[in-house]
Amino acid sequence: VSAHTIQVAVVPRYSVDVGAGIVARAADRPQGWSRTFVLTDANVARLHGAALAAIPRASVHAVPPGEDSKSFRELERVLDALVAAGCDRASGLVAFGGGVVGDLGGLAAALYHRGIACVQVPTTLLAMVDSSVGGKTAVNLAAGKNLAGAFHQPDEVVADVRFLVTLPDDEYRSGLGEVVKTAVLDGDLFHRLRAQPARLARRDEAELVDVVAACVRRKALVVASDPREQGARKLLNLGHTFAHAIEHVAGYGRIPHGIAVATGILLAAEAGRVADLGVDAGFAGALADLLAALDVPHGLRALSERHGAALESGALLLAMARDKKSRRGVPQFVVPFGPAAVRHDVALPEAAVRAALDRSTRG
Ligand SMILES: NC(=O)c1ccc[n+]([C@@H]2O[C@H](COP(=O)([O-])OP(=O)(O)OC[C@H]3O[C@@H](n4cnc5c(N)ncnc54)[C@H](O)[C@@H]3O)[C@@H](O)[C@H]2O)c1
Ligand SMILES: [Zn+2]
Repeated sequence: VSAHTIQVAVVPRYSVDVGAGIVARAADRPQGWSRTFVLTDANVARLHGAALAAIPRASVHAVPPGEDSKSFRELERVLDALVAAGCDRASGLVAFGGGVVGDLGGLAAALYHRGIACVQVPTTLLAMVDSSVGGKTAVNLAAGKNLAGAFHQPDEVVADVRFLVTLPDDEYRSGLGEVVKTAVLDGDLFHRLRAQPARLARRDEAELVDVVAACVRRKALVVASDPREQGARKLLNLGHTFAHAIEHVAGYGRIPHGIAVATGILLAAEAGRVADLGVDAGFAGALADLLAALDVPHGLRALSERHGAALESGALLLAMARDKKSRRGVPQFVVPFGPAAVRHDVALPEAAVRAALDRSTRG
């Protein structure tokens, strides 16, 4: 199985190692730290806690698994625990877990002593292909997700796909939703997955290494071109205007994020087609076929049935108008016209959005 090292060209630059059985590399950088604070969650600690035993001078802090740990209260506990562990400015934090641990740990590292070093060791597919790279960190507020955060780039990311063996199926499918998003942005990866989806669907180790590396490479390019999301980085929100509405209307936590994103990409393509914006004729069909081959449920009807959620068009439209990325109540969309042909800041006509939603609801 090959391993890849991808450079993320922000200032200062850092590297992302992707491979199978490479987690020991996560112990390298902490050799130079005064102390190491490992943040994880209880599931990852139980399943994989031994993996980081080689890190010297380390204290381990485990938060409860799940989105609720991305809170100010948990953040304060982590900061207090950094003090209790004797961490100073020359110490560093290793975020060992999924996107929840990565976002919470990244923000704690951004704040502690106005910023300490951070190594991300993602253990979910979503965290490997998306949240561990790019430097966005956040906690949630009562008013919404990710409303308090900071940009704090990691010093290094070590993505070992062997952790994915224990990931529950729906969490894996959720990661696949973000993989497909990245593949649409990339083009080449989309064609590769279309040609042979079965290896990825069954978590073939060598295939995972290559696919995760391709996703990281694409994300790294986008992030480096726009580290603070003023333009091109918005492309990474493909499918997300719809997905946030789906997650909100279903009730957060009911539908895994990346699964909502997969349907969101389909809806954006369909609304673009209805609006006659020049969406490639066969694209929506090819996308749906790929999601089916990867065993990712898609379409509002399938999501409603599978996750017991009422996803009515009117409620989804209302949620989108309230989205934080709306401009004066008009939601902005990222629209895929085809593989590697994606545009951001498209104001889709409401009638086209409604038509796409209605059609998807009928299934
Ligand atoms: N910062 C960013 O750029 C960015 C991008 C995308 C998503 N996010 C954030 O990421 C979060 C979602 O991340 P996630 O999907 O990784 O969820 P998560 O961190 O909640 O992990 C999902 C579940 O899988 C468990 N788990 C983790 N690794 C495991 C393993 N190897 N085996 C078995 N179980 C394991 C966790 O304990 C948890 O129960 C959201 O809060 C989202 O806002 C951030
Ligand atoms: Zn996402």
